Amino acid sequence: MFKKVTKSLAVLSAASSFFVSCAFAEPIVIKFSHVVAVDTPKGQAADFFKKRAEELTKGKVKVEVYPNSQLYKDGEEMEALQIGTVQMLAPSLAKFGPLGAKEFEVFDLPYIFNNEDDLHKVTAGPVGKMLFTKLEPKGITGLAYWDNGFKSFSANTPIKTPADLKGKKLRIQSSKVLEAEIRALKAIPQVMAFSEVYQALQTGVVDGTENPISNFYTQKMQEVQKYLTLTEHGYLGYAVIVNKKFWDGLPADVRGELETAMTEATVYANKIAKEKNISDLEAVRKTGKTEITTLTPAEREVWRKALLPVHKEMESRIGKETIEAVYKATDFKN
Ligand code: LMR
Repeated sequence: MFKKVTKSLAVLSAASSFFVSCAFAEPIVIKFSHVVAVDTPKGQAADFFKKRAEELTKGKVKVEVYPNSQLYKDGEEMEALQIGTVQMLAPSLAKFGPLGAKEFEVFDLPYIFNNEDDLHKVTAGPVGKMLFTKLEPKGITGLAYWDNGFKSFSANTPIKTPADLKGKKLRIQSSKVLEAEIRALKAIPQVMAFSEVYQALQTGVVDGTENPISNFYTQKMQEVQKYLTLTEHGYLGYAVIVNKKFWDGLPADVRGELETAMTEATVYANKIAKEKNISDLEAVRKTGKTEITTLTPAEREVWRKALLPVHKEMESRIGKETIEAVYKATDFKN
């Protein structure tokens, strides 16, 4: 009798410790680092992904989002992902060159996309898939493309034509195509981490820069840039990427739930990117600090003419096949 009770107690205690350990099992932590403000398309989409990932995995996964270069800034975050001190990032497509994935710089070619529809033909098609395969040997898996929007030039002197930027020092992201773009305007490119741009503009280290409106506004660039011209000459968007070893090592059901959360977050990201770039332009206008110039189609054509030679010039860096694959997907016309 005594033996029987002891045995049942032992079974009970084993069972309860199993349930306790399940209930209190440590969640899988995904550190998701990015460089922009919370109230941007990427910041909002990262928070949305966190919410859905935690809901769908019923707490098995905890996503910690670190915005504003709080954890890592440009030039640091890729390495952090590769060594696994963060698990997820969403760098701009202009930041993959230093990793050796130069084909990504095709997105930086000026005026290569007329609108978001053109762009989605690339990101949602074979070119988008092909680009992600370039990341695998580097220990990185590409999960999704998230929109931001089209970039416009700003400075402290009026900008109407490309000649107005001649000789100006302009901050760019770390992309050789963007360097060529700035040189095509006879201006001076200055690669700089995003977290340093406001101060560089304030102190005159650089004269101007290029941004989608949501980044301009949330970095308060209206305080340090008197003129913003809606050149919309190039695209800025993101690839959401994860450490491959971490991702492949996840239980299949958890990975599936995270994929669902990512699909939902992508729809959300692209929707708010459009909305925010419009509402933030109004917000910049309302500050009254920056004069906003809109170009006529003829004026835009002058910019296009000045910048299109960059496509040919960068062919050997990006790869002719990649550029042509994008042209084909979007039915690009010179
Ligand atoms: C920039 O450096 O200008 C952008 O890549 C920042 C961002 O992540 O949108």
